[in-house]
Amino acid sequence: MSEATSEQQAEQRHQIESTISRLFAPEDAGLQGALQAARDAGLPEIQINPIQGKLLQVLATACQARKILEIGSLAGYSGIWLARALPTDGHLITLEINPEHAEVVRASFANAGVGDRTEVRVGAALDLLPTLTTEGPFDLIFIDADKASYPQYLDWAIKLSRAGSIIIADNCVRDGVAFQQTATMDADTIGLVQYNQLTREDPRLTTIVLANDNDYTDGLNIAVVKAH
Ligand code: DHB
Ligand code: MG
Repeated sequence: MSEATSEQQAEQRHQIESTISRLFAPEDAGLQGALQAARDAGLPEIQINPIQGKLLQVLATACQARKILEIGSLAGYSGIWLARALPTDGHLITLEINPEHAEVVRASFANAGVGDRTEVRVGAALDLLPTLTTEGPFDLIFIDADKASYPQYLDWAIKLSRAGSIIIADNCVRDGVAFQQTATMDADTIGLVQYNQLTREDPRLTTIVLANDNDYTDGLNIAVVKAH
Protein backbone atom coordinates (compact mmCIF):
# COMPACT_ATOMS: atom_id res chain seq x y z
CA MET A 1 0.00 0.00 0.00
CA SER A 2 1.40 3.36 -0.98
CA GLU A 3 1.62 6.27 1.44
CA ALA A 4 -1.06 8.95 1.16
CA THR A 5 0.31 12.10 -0.40
CA SER A 6 0.13 15.31 1.60
CA GLU A 7 -2.53 16.45 -0.89
CA GLN A 8 -4.64 13.38 -0.09
CA GLN A 9 -4.14 13.95 3.63
CA ALA A 10 -5.23 17.57 3.28
CA GLU A 11 -8.30 16.43 1.31
CA GLN A 12 -9.16 13.88 4.01
CA ARG A 13 -8.84 16.50 6.74
CA HIS A 14 -11.07 18.80 4.72
CA GLN A 15 -13.68 16.03 4.34
CA ILE A 16 -13.67 15.29 8.06
CA GLU A 17 -13.98 18.98 8.88
CA SER A 18 -16.91 19.39 6.44
CA THR A 19 -18.71 16.44 8.00
CA ILE A 20 -18.22 17.78 11.54
CA SER A 21 -19.43 21.21 10.40
CA ARG A 22 -22.52 19.74 8.75
CA LEU A 23 -23.41 17.49 11.69
CA PHE A 24 -22.47 19.67 14.66
CA ALA A 25 -22.30 23.28 13.47
CA PRO A 26 -24.79 23.90 10.65
CA GLU A 27 -25.37 27.56 9.79
CA ASP A 28 -29.00 28.68 9.81
CA ALA A 29 -30.43 31.66 7.90
CA GLY A 30 -29.38 34.06 10.69
CA LEU A 31 -25.70 33.12 10.47
CA GLN A 32 -25.70 32.94 6.67
CA GLY A 33 -27.50 36.29 6.57
CA ALA A 34 -24.78 37.86 8.71
CA LEU A 35 -22.11 36.63 6.29
CA GLN A 36 -24.06 37.95 3.28
CA ALA A 37 -24.66 41.33 4.95
CA ALA A 38 -20.95 41.57 5.73
CA ARG A 39 -20.03 40.75 2.11
CA ASP A 40 -22.55 43.31 0.83
CA ALA A 41 -21.03 45.95 3.13
CA GLY A 42 -17.51 45.14 1.96
CA LEU A 43 -16.28 43.81 5.32
CA PRO A 44 -13.31 41.44 5.14
CA GLU A 45 -14.27 37.74 5.24
CA ILE A 46 -12.08 36.84 8.17
CA GLN A 47 -14.66 35.57 10.64
CA ILE A 48 -14.21 32.39 12.63
CA ASN A 49 -15.44 29.14 11.05
CA PRO A 50 -18.61 27.24 12.11
CA ILE A 51 -16.74 24.69 14.24
CA GLN A 52 -15.05 27.53 16.12
CA GLY A 53 -18.43 29.24 16.50
CA LYS A 54 -19.97 26.10 17.94
CA LEU A 55 -16.97 25.70 20.25
CA LEU A 56 -17.64 29.23 21.57
CA GLN A 57 -21.23 28.15 22.23
CA VAL A 58 -20.12 24.98 24.01
CA LEU A 59 -17.75 26.98 26.21
CA ALA A 60 -20.38 29.64 26.98
CA THR A 61 -22.73 26.87 28.03
CA ALA A 62 -20.01 25.20 30.13
CA CYS A 63 -19.50 28.33 32.24
CA GLN A 64 -23.28 28.99 32.37
CA ALA A 65 -22.70 32.35 30.75
CA ARG A 66 -25.26 35.08 31.42
CA LYS A 67 -22.93 37.96 30.57
CA ILE A 68 -20.64 37.79 27.56
CA LEU A 69 -18.17 40.43 26.36
CA GLU A 70 -16.76 40.46 22.84
CA ILE A 71 -13.85 42.72 21.85
CA GLY A 72 -14.11 43.26 18.07
CA SER A 73 -17.51 42.55 16.44
CA LEU A 74 -16.50 42.32 12.76
CA ALA A 75 -19.57 40.85 10.98
CA GLY A 76 -21.47 39.82 14.10
CA TYR A 77 -20.96 36.18 13.12
CA SER A 78 -19.20 35.09 16.33
CA GLY A 79 -21.59 37.30 18.31
CA ILE A 80 -24.58 35.35 16.98
CA TRP A 81 -23.01 32.00 17.93
CA LEU A 82 -22.28 33.37 21.42
CA ALA A 83 -25.61 35.14 21.98
CA ARG A 84 -27.46 31.93 21.20
CA ALA A 85 -25.82 30.27 24.18
CA LEU A 86 -27.36 32.88 26.51
CA PRO A 87 -30.54 32.43 28.52
CA THR A 88 -33.34 34.85 27.51
CA ASP A 89 -32.31 37.29 30.26
CA GLY A 90 -28.62 37.00 29.33
CA HIS A 91 -26.63 39.80 27.71
CA LEU A 92 -23.81 40.11 25.20
CA ILE A 93 -21.91 43.38 24.82
CA THR A 94 -19.72 43.60 21.73
CA LEU A 95 -17.21 46.43 21.16
CA GLU A 96 -16.70 47.74 17.62
CA ILE A 97 -14.46 50.59 16.52
CA ASN A 98 -16.15 51.18 13.14
CA PRO A 99 -19.64 52.82 13.42
CA GLU A 100 -20.74 51.62 9.96
CA HIS A 101 -19.74 48.04 10.72
CA ALA A 102 -21.60 48.37 14.04
CA GLU A 103 -24.82 49.17 12.13
CA VAL A 104 -24.36 46.07 9.96
CA VAL A 105 -23.85 43.99 13.11
CA ARG A 106 -26.98 45.39 14.81
CA ALA A 107 -29.08 44.51 11.76
CA SER A 108 -27.58 41.01 11.58
CA PHE A 109 -28.23 40.43 15.30
CA ALA A 110 -31.88 41.46 14.85
CA ASN A 111 -32.20 39.27 11.75
CA ALA A 112 -30.75 36.31 13.66
CA GLY A 113 -33.26 36.79 16.49
CA VAL A 114 -30.74 37.87 19.15
CA GLY A 115 -31.34 41.64 19.02
CA ASP A 116 -32.94 41.58 22.47
CA ARG A 117 -29.88 40.00 24.14
CA THR A 118 -27.15 41.99 22.42
CA GLU A 119 -25.65 45.45 22.46
CA VAL A 120 -23.05 46.87 20.06
CA ARG A 121 -20.97 49.64 21.63
CA VAL A 122 -18.97 51.85 19.29
CA GLY A 123 -15.48 53.03 20.12
CA ALA A 124 -11.90 51.96 20.64
CA ALA A 125 -11.95 48.95 22.97
CA LEU A 126 -9.26 50.42 25.23
CA ASP A 127 -11.51 53.46 25.79
CA LEU A 128 -14.67 51.40 26.37
CA LEU A 129 -13.23 48.64 28.60
CA PRO A 130 -12.70 50.92 31.66
CA THR A 131 -16.42 51.85 31.49
CA LEU A 132 -17.46 48.20 31.91
CA THR A 133 -16.23 47.57 35.45
CA THR A 134 -19.69 48.09 36.95
CA GLU A 135 -21.30 45.79 34.36
CA GLY A 136 -19.19 42.72 35.00
CA PRO A 137 -18.10 40.21 35.88
CA PHE A 138 -18.39 38.64 32.45
CA ASP A 139 -18.61 34.85 32.30
CA LEU A 140 -17.00 34.63 28.86
CA ILE A 141 -14.83 37.13 27.01
CA PHE A 142 -13.96 36.71 23.32
CA ILE A 143 -11.07 38.77 21.95
CA ASP A 144 -10.89 39.21 18.16
CA ALA A 145 -9.76 42.78 17.48
CA ASP A 146 -6.46 44.52 16.66
CA LYS A 147 -3.67 42.13 17.55
CA ALA A 148 -1.11 44.63 18.91
CA SER A 149 -3.43 45.38 21.84
CA TYR A 150 -4.09 41.74 22.80
CA PRO A 151 -1.89 41.92 25.96
CA GLN A 152 -3.88 44.93 27.21
CA TYR A 153 -7.14 43.23 26.31
CA LEU A 154 -6.03 40.27 28.41
CA ASP A 155 -5.43 42.54 31.42
CA TRP A 156 -8.95 43.93 31.07
CA ALA A 157 -10.49 40.52 30.44
CA ILE A 158 -9.00 39.20 33.69
CA LYS A 159 -10.13 42.35 35.55
CA LEU A 160 -13.67 41.95 34.21
CA SER A 161 -13.88 38.20 34.94
CA ARG A 162 -14.62 35.84 37.85
CA ALA A 163 -13.18 32.47 38.85
CA GLY A 164 -14.55 30.09 36.22
CA SER A 165 -14.78 32.71 33.45
CA ILE A 166 -13.42 31.68 30.06
CA ILE A 167 -11.25 34.05 28.01
CA ILE A 168 -10.87 33.15 24.34
CA ALA A 169 -8.74 34.92 21.72
CA ASP A 170 -8.71 34.38 17.95
CA ASN A 171 -5.66 34.26 15.69
CA CYS A 172 -3.21 32.93 18.28
CA VAL A 173 -1.40 30.54 15.91
CA ARG A 174 -0.80 32.74 12.84
CA ASP A 175 1.08 30.22 10.66
CA GLY A 176 3.00 29.14 13.75
CA VAL A 177 4.74 32.49 14.24
CA ALA A 178 2.70 33.48 17.32
CA PHE A 179 4.87 31.55 19.79
CA GLN A 180 8.31 33.12 19.69
CA GLN A 181 9.29 36.73 19.35
CA THR A 182 11.88 37.66 16.71
CA ALA A 183 13.74 40.87 15.94
CA THR A 184 11.85 41.60 12.72
CA MET A 185 8.31 41.04 13.97
CA ASP A 186 5.53 43.59 13.45
CA ALA A 187 3.50 44.97 16.35
CA ASP A 188 0.51 42.72 15.63
CA THR A 189 2.52 39.51 15.76
CA ILE A 190 4.39 40.68 18.86
CA GLY A 191 0.99 41.23 20.50
CA LEU A 192 0.00 37.65 19.72
CA VAL A 193 3.33 36.20 20.94
CA GLN A 194 3.00 38.13 24.19
CA TYR A 195 -0.63 37.07 24.59
CA ASN A 196 0.33 33.41 24.27
CA GLN A 197 3.20 33.84 26.71
CA LEU A 198 1.12 35.79 29.26
CA THR A 199 -1.73 33.28 29.21
CA ARG A 200 0.72 30.37 29.45
CA GLU A 201 2.60 31.80 32.43
CA ASP A 202 -0.17 33.49 34.42
CA PRO A 203 -0.84 31.37 37.53
CA ARG A 204 -4.46 32.58 37.54
CA LEU A 205 -5.16 30.88 34.18
CA THR A 206 -5.26 27.38 32.69
CA THR A 207 -4.66 27.78 28.96
CA ILE A 208 -4.48 25.87 25.69
CA VAL A 209 -4.10 26.93 22.06
CA LEU A 210 -6.02 24.97 19.40
CA ALA A 211 -5.04 25.19 15.73
CA ASN A 212 -8.62 24.93 14.50
CA ASP A 213 -9.22 27.29 11.61
CA ASN A 214 -9.95 25.92 8.13
CA ASP A 215 -6.40 24.91 7.28
CA TYR A 216 -4.97 24.53 10.82
CA THR A 217 -2.69 27.55 10.33
CA ASP A 218 -4.51 29.68 12.88
CA GLY A 219 -6.69 29.08 15.89
CA LEU A 220 -8.03 29.96 19.30
CA ASN A 221 -6.29 30.54 22.62
CA ILE A 222 -8.66 29.31 25.37
CA ALA A 223 -7.96 30.26 28.99
CA VAL A 224 -10.04 29.48 32.07
CA VAL A 225 -9.72 31.84 35.03
CA LYS A 226 -8.95 29.75 38.13
CA ALA A 227 -8.76 32.53 40.70
CA HIS A 228 -7.95 36.20 41.00
C1 DHB B 1 -7.21 38.15 9.86
C2 DHB B 1 -7.97 37.13 10.40
C3 DHB B 1 -8.63 37.34 11.58
O1 DHB B 1 -9.38 36.36 12.15
C4 DHB B 1 -8.53 38.55 12.24
O2 DHB B 1 -9.17 38.68 13.41
C5 DHB B 1 -7.79 39.58 11.69
C6 DHB B 1 -7.12 39.37 10.49
C7 DHB B 1 -6.51 37.92 8.58
O3 DHB B 1 -6.56 36.79 8.09
O4 DHB B 1 -5.93 38.86 8.06
MG1 MG C 1 -9.93 36.84 14.08
